[in-house]
Amino acid sequence: AKKADLGPLVGAVDQGTSSTRFLVFNSRTAELLSHHQVEIKQEFPREGWVEQDPKEILQSVYECIEKTCEKLRELNIDISNIKAIGVSNQRETTVVWDKLTGEPLYNAVVWLDLRTQSTVENLSKRIPGNNNFVKSKTGLPLSTYFSAVKLRWILDNVRKVQKAVEEDRALFGTIDSWLIWSLTGGAKGGVHCTDVTNASRTMLFNIHSLEWDKELCDFFEIPMAILPNVRSSSEIYGLMKAGALEGVPISGCLGDQSAALVGQMCFQDGQAKNTYGTGCFLLCNTGHKCVFSEHGLLTTVAYKLGRDKPVYYALEGSVAIAGAVIRWLRDNLGIISTSEEIEKLAKEVGTSYGCYFVPAFSGLYAPYWEPSARGIICGLTQFTNKCHIAFAALEAVCFQTREILDAMNRDCGIPLSHLQVDGGMTSNKILMQLQADILYIPVVKPSMPETTALGAAMAAGAADGVGVWSLEPEDLSAVTMERFEPQINAEESEIRYSTWKKAVMKSMGWVT
Ligand code: G3P
Repeated sequence: AKKADLGPLVGAVDQGTSSTRFLVFNSRTAELLSHHQVEIKQEFPREGWVEQDPKEILQSVYECIEKTCEKLRELNIDISNIKAIGVSNQRETTVVWDKLTGEPLYNAVVWLDLRTQSTVENLSKRIPGNNNFVKSKTGLPLSTYFSAVKLRWILDNVRKVQKAVEEDRALFGTIDSWLIWSLTGGAKGGVHCTDVTNASRTMLFNIHSLEWDKELCDFFEIPMAILPNVRSSSEIYGLMKAGALEGVPISGCLGDQSAALVGQMCFQDGQAKNTYGTGCFLLCNTGHKCVFSEHGLLTTVAYKLGRDKPVYYALEGSVAIAGAVIRWLRDNLGIISTSEEIEKLAKEVGTSYGCYFVPAFSGLYAPYWEPSARGIICGLTQFTNKCHIAFAALEAVCFQTREILDAMNRDCGIPLSHLQVDGGMTSNKILMQLQADILYIPVVKPSMPETTALGAAMAAGAADGVGVWSLEPEDLSAVTMERFEPQINAEESEIRYSTWKKAVMKSMGWVT
């Protein structure tokens, strides 16, 4: 028998750094009906380099869509009720492909990749006018993190790409563009576009005019012809051209951190969320104003939910390594065999016993922006065991968030009274309690941690021509909240935090 009428359904691709997911939500309640997840390989061809295979990423999306649809059929849910698909993605990761063959011309250079350190140093000596040239237009510091320098490196070093540019066959995109172009037909008429949130992470996009910036493209020597069209985060870009959902419109597109902000309904000035994925990203909605940080935060486009809708901005604190430290303990040290085991190890000891772990594997992002930092584990004694290191790894995620929150509070003037959190790691109760203890404010998490996908689904469902999601709080009736209150005293919290800061100082300046 068919399942009782659920109303229109909306799907969302969440293509993160560590895995790809496809999820299907009921647009009336935000109930998650089914999903499928596939882990994505990361390649480290040289020290500091991080690459992924764009074709594996695309395949993983198709696989997740097919498997989710199978699961829905097993639940007797009719997949023809899926009215739209949203895409959210790891941001900044850079792909160049051939528009005639649909083949990537190089591996995706992942946001964490550090190969452009010398490119950044050289460019910073040539910044025209004042040092604010890049930041005033893009809201971003000149850093290895963003796409423009990764694209510059590819253009300088990959002969196949140079040739394709000369022959007008090359297209550039972040993961959203690569996916939307491929899913809407690829070489046979794929739509080459991105949205304002993803564009705002390239260092080529003017966040005031909401257009590619000619002066920035000249500065980074990027040919503008290879850039995608910039659209809003909620409109029909094209239709799925293959697979179980052929013909369904793709009508939402947001960088994953923006998607989580939408999924948490942080629509008001001053509302903030922190998402624990591979990295950890705290975004605070600043309304229609671009607020420029004095404490190492980024200014970024939060969302623009429709062609004729206004743009919203956010202040962002970016931490490069959060969940990635757990993956490192699993894959590189082998002290756990699944990510979930970290909680069991940490629980056995309930303290790091003076051990501090600064996972600066890709340098330090906000608030330091120090590419020369490298990871350290310090405070070891013969008593230290793997449980203490596991605990220190979780604490590191919380301390890094505390640094961001402090910066955010200084920039905004009004301290956050609680922190809304989401992402895979929030199912770890030790982590959540530690976070409340270290921030010394309550931490509030939704029962359904897949807020990133939810935000993309909401944007897709709300698009003109789809209109199945109204973006009102009543639409989220299936989502309940859990709250973690600080349990240690403020003094103890401060002592631990100040020792962490000493460890951070030691991690800096390893590479010159
Ligand atoms: O800026 C990078 C960010 O978008 C990556 O997100 O979820 O893979 O940690 P995630």
